[in-house]
Amino acid sequence: MNRALAGRRIVVSAGPTYEDLDPVRFLGNRSSGKMGFALAEAAARRGAQVVLVAGPVHLPTPDGVARIDVRSAAQLREAVLGALPADAYIGAAAVADWTPRAVSPHKLKKMPGAQILTLELVRTPDTLAEVAAHPQRPRVVVGFAAETHDLERYARGKLAEKRLDLIAANRVGVAGSGFEADDNTLIVFSRDGAMHTLGPAGKREVAEALLDLMALFLDADERG
Ligand code: C5P
Repeated sequence: MNRALAGRRIVVSAGPTYEDLDPVRFLGNRSSGKMGFALAEAAARRGAQVVLVAGPVHLPTPDGVARIDVRSAAQLREAVLGALPADAYIGAAAVADWTPRAVSPHKLKKMPGAQILTLELVRTPDTLAEVAAHPQRPRVVVGFAAETHDLERYARGKLAEKRLDLIAANRVGVAGSGFEADDNTLIVFSRDGAMHTLGPAGKREVAEALLDLMALFLDADERG
């Protein structure tokens, strides 16, 4: 039994966020939450104290994990910041980048004859960047990057911009990887410039490999 993270407090976000347009419609994305839930489960098995902030998904709560359900990007931010301080934050949620400027209190109706509806959207808070810049910054901050192209360039860009320790990038839009799939391949870039390929393998196995990397960074950080 791998106990590398025993006693650590780890906050994980997982799943999509839904941004409401009106009482019956929302903007969402295709994240299943499986990768984040696999990470939370594997960390708890290693004896970590895990808080899982979950967007709307249909997945059971892993044993030993404290789960906080949220819906929107704003709620996710509140729950994650409220769970600090922590030793590590893993931002595996596919957080919406945009939210409607205003939520209609009643169902939006079709205007007779109208063929176009214009929505006004505003940016959501970037929880990952905020956690990485927080006065109570966890010692290890891990982001995810789901990309359809130019994976390495975008992932390394986000690692630097958001001041992360690790970023796990996966290709979306290809079979056997990314959203909804049971298997995954992660290309992980670290702040020291290294690159690691985890998988292709089941999300559980990939989760274990990512936690091994995180544990190395936690230990290295402690040794100073
Ligand atoms: O910049 P991009 O959205 O592609 O970065 C993805 C990473 O940032 C993921 O780890 C995601 O959880 C996090 N994120 C966030 N808040 C947002 C957007 C993304 O925490 N509003």
